[in-house]
Amino acid sequence: MTKAFDPQEIQGNILRGYRRNLVRHLILEVTNAGVARRFLGLSVAGDSPDVPAITPDKTWPTKPEFCFNIGITFEGLRALRVPSRHLETFPTEFMQGMTKRAIKIGDFGESAPEHWPAPFDQPERVHIIASIHADAEGPLDRAQAQVERAFTTLGVRNGRNLPEGRVFFGYVDGISQPRFNHIDDPSQKDVDEPIDPLGTALLGYPTRQEGVTFRVPSPRDLGFNGSFNAFRILAQDAAGFETYLNDAATELMTHPDVNQLADPHRLERIGEGLDMHGALREVVAAQMCGRWRNGVPYELSPDAQYPEERVSLTNFDYSHRSRCPVGAHMRRGNPRGGPIVQRIANYTRRLVRRGMSYGPDFDPKNPDSQERGLLGNFIGANLGAQFEAVMCDWINLGLQDPRITSSNDPLLGANTPQTSWFDMSLPSGGTIRLRGFPRLITSRGGAYTFLPSIAAIKHLSELND
Ligand code: HEM
Repeated sequence: MTKAFDPQEIQGNILRGYRRNLVRHLILEVTNAGVARRFLGLSVAGDSPDVPAITPDKTWPTKPEFCFNIGITFEGLRALRVPSRHLETFPTEFMQGMTKRAIKIGDFGESAPEHWPAPFDQPERVHIIASIHADAEGPLDRAQAQVERAFTTLGVRNGRNLPEGRVFFGYVDGISQPRFNHIDDPSQKDVDEPIDPLGTALLGYPTRQEGVTFRVPSPRDLGFNGSFNAFRILAQDAAGFETYLNDAATELMTHPDVNQLADPHRLERIGEGLDMHGALREVVAAQMCGRWRNGVPYELSPDAQYPEERVSLTNFDYSHRSRCPVGAHMRRGNPRGGPIVQRIANYTRRLVRRGMSYGPDFDPKNPDSQERGLLGNFIGANLGAQFEAVMCDWINLGLQDPRITSSNDPLLGANTPQTSWFDMSLPSGGTIRLRGFPRLITSRGGAYTFLPSIAAIKHLSELND
């Protein structure tokens, strides 16, 4: 029987975002299981001056100094001495870990785990990813110092919000998210997406597929109210993206249908002061993503980044007559109620996305090739049925629609200039095929983690050698 849902029993940042400016992910190894377990026990007791308290799901009148959460890999559960009879109740993809699932999720070529820098070159040592969210460096440093007394720190990754909620490539991100009935999240008050059942993100609750509940690992104290996370370090080739937009716009300038993409007499609707070439750059960026870079959905406003009347950012669906390309990144990532081959999958692969950017600022007018990108968390109750299924079937193989099968996601896919293609849509119903774009996003590390409930962290703290 499902117990009544208690948000205080789950870790924060699963069902709602913290909306802090900074994040620090500590990649940790358990070198002394007893010390690690004692730390976990104190972190859920929440009253130790020496150990940061795990942040549960709640709203505060004033935000705490920092929020602290953990994800544990399969090797981490083993290092904490979870007995093998319980370990084997976890799903296969989690047991194998991200690096062994590389081909399925597009981590080959430059993205292959063999090329990942430390500490992700030693996945068996990556046991815990502790994430601290705050608005200033001081609290991050203080929490980190406390954590480092109990674990060996293998690596640190710092992330930050870019201005206006943008990510490198210039898009506003974090707009579409699953929405849960039981959660009153003021930041989602204007979001009008369908409500998702708790089983989308938490173990032990009904999912959108009637009669399907993902298996809860044993014992129930360990599995119930937990979740899984694909933590990804994704480098973005911001200079390559801008160069490609230039090249594509230059090519489109001489296309006979170019005026269908941008009305030369109304270019201000796409951006103030833009000439035709500049407007076409924005149209290519918008069609590749499914949103204009300011976040306006292409589906609702295909001719204008700045529509005359306000449009909803989240309340739309795709049809056979959609102007949003079938291959656009966000349409691949979530085809909503639109026509797809595997119709049963509509809305069953929803992912909670939480991420922040890493690396130095990028100035498109003065591009450089320093590493920068996204520290992404892709959260769901089942990695295989959600994250991996989206990455493999939809992002990389395009199985959801025969018109894109064999092409990759233009932003995220494992593309090469020799083979890449993307069909832009025209109001007439026709398409213009773009080719020659490189891989724009490369994996630089990551891990599959289990996000244990508060009771589960307590359970882990009480294990013995
Ligand atoms: C650096 C890497 C990535 C970048 C720059 C990126 C960018 C974006 C942007 C700009 C949006 C539109 C904003 C929004 O709707 O919230 C979006 C939406 C989305 N992305 Fe990504 N993304 C990245 C990686 C991924 C990955 C790894 C996945 C995993 C499968 C993914 C899945 C999605 C989904 C599901 C949506 C929401 C679609 C919807 O609900 O309508 N993205 N992404």
